[in-house]
Amino acid sequence: MKKTTRMFLYLLTLLTVICAGCSSDHNNSPTATTGSVTADATTGTVAAGTMVSSPAGVTSMTFSSPSVLTDSTGAPVTGAITTTTSKSTSASSLPAAPPSGSSLALLLDITMSKGSTQVKNFSTPLTVVVAVPSGITSVDVYSYNGTNWVLEQAGVAVTGGNATFNITHLSMWGCFSVAPLAVTTTSPLPAGTVGTAYSQTLAATGGTGAYTWTWAAATGSALPPGLSLAETTGAISGTPTTAGTYNFSATVTDSASPAKTATQAFSIIVNPVGASLTITSASPLTAGTVGTAYSQTLAASGGTTPYNWTLAPGSSLPAGLTLNAAGVISGTPTTAGTTTTSFTVTDAAAATASKSLSITINAASLNGAALYATNCAGCHGPLATSSKRGSTAAQIQAAINGNVGGMGFLSVLTSAEVQAIATALSP
Ligand code: HEC
Repeated sequence: MKKTTRMFLYLLTLLTVICAGCSSDHNNSPTATTGSVTADATTGTVAAGTMVSSPAGVTSMTFSSPSVLTDSTGAPVTGAITTTTSKSTSASSLPAAPPSGSSLALLLDITMSKGSTQVKNFSTPLTVVVAVPSGITSVDVYSYNGTNWVLEQAGVAVTGGNATFNITHLSMWGCFSVAPLAVTTTSPLPAGTVGTAYSQTLAATGGTGAYTWTWAAATGSALPPGLSLAETTGAISGTPTTAGTYNFSATVTDSASPAKTATQAFSIIVNPVGASLTITSASPLTAGTVGTAYSQTLAASGGTTPYNWTLAPGSSLPAGLTLNAAGVISGTPTTAGTTTTSFTVTDAAAATASKSLSITINAASLNGAALYATNCAGCHGPLATSSKRGSTAAQIQAAINGNVGGMGFLSVLTSAEVQAIATALSP
């Protein structure tokens, strides 16, 4: 039997046609031939143009002229009408699965007859009120024409537990939309630690009524020892006793009958007590060079991933470098020197660890030929044919210091740069 069909049948047992409230809906106009037809469910007597709203509760009713009912030939059917309402519990009586998106359906197979003459059609809609099980917020009404489902009314609101809809055919099904049952909590669950109380509550949506939670072991695995799943709340709690990675499935079952279920696989990591959060990167970190892109990733172990990296308060990196949350130090250093920086890593359980690590940034190697071209070639010609080839750094520095030939402005050159130029000038 199809699931949808079972749901149909289940709903049939739940539904109660509401009768008592209908008598106040009398349409007392004797000539009314349009509009909703309602009737006195208590007496079974209806005025002209009105019709019982309670097909299950009324088996006989009287129509006066003009009739709102016609037979298969289109001829009016008036007078005392016998009404029966089929509430079949046989799957074979259901012509087809309800339209997709509908989870439950109510069979309202109504037979109206006067003697051997069967009423085939309403010229005005018949108002039907049905009690709707909790959890259902909307009703779509379809007719079944022998081949297809035809939408008669979509999204009829459920008010006070009742759905009120108008039907124009004698075989009607109300399709009840219920949000599908689904587990909303995602895997993996937050990690736990041996000896530390753990609590996480699984959540679900949809379905009908209260939920019941159960779990099942995945192959070779289960809930972590020390933890249990509360059937009524979905809470996984307790104090884990054994480290490891645990896989299991949790199933939520709703209160429908037959119940619907939804299952999801979960994993929980239980960390050992000793595995405290530690920064494992060693000092010094890889050296960098001024002007050259630098990238180094810090490492930690223990605790609960993911980690979040920050600089300890008051600490700073070599100029030009930055640290991101993933522990990547990157950038292009601008200044030579050695910097000691205190790094802090914070894990998902808010544990922290700090460690001081030094980074040396080396000066960029000087390009003597380029320095010559920039500072000297204008007066002494190209490097290859320079009249100053073979000059020592001391000689160059002395010429600068002595402002020989107006060279004094070159005092901005560092001794390293003068040395580099001298090296370039060496024969
Ligand atoms: C503004 C022009 C000018 C620039 C720029 C200049 N020099 Fe000179 N330099 C001179 C003149 C003029 C002399 C003196 C004549 C000579 O020795 O050729 C001189 C002399 C020297 C001498 C000889 C000094 C001595 O006491 O015998 C050296 C060595 C020298 N320059 C190297 C350099 C180097 C290296 C640079 C670049 C860092 C440089 N100069 C840039 C114009 C310049």
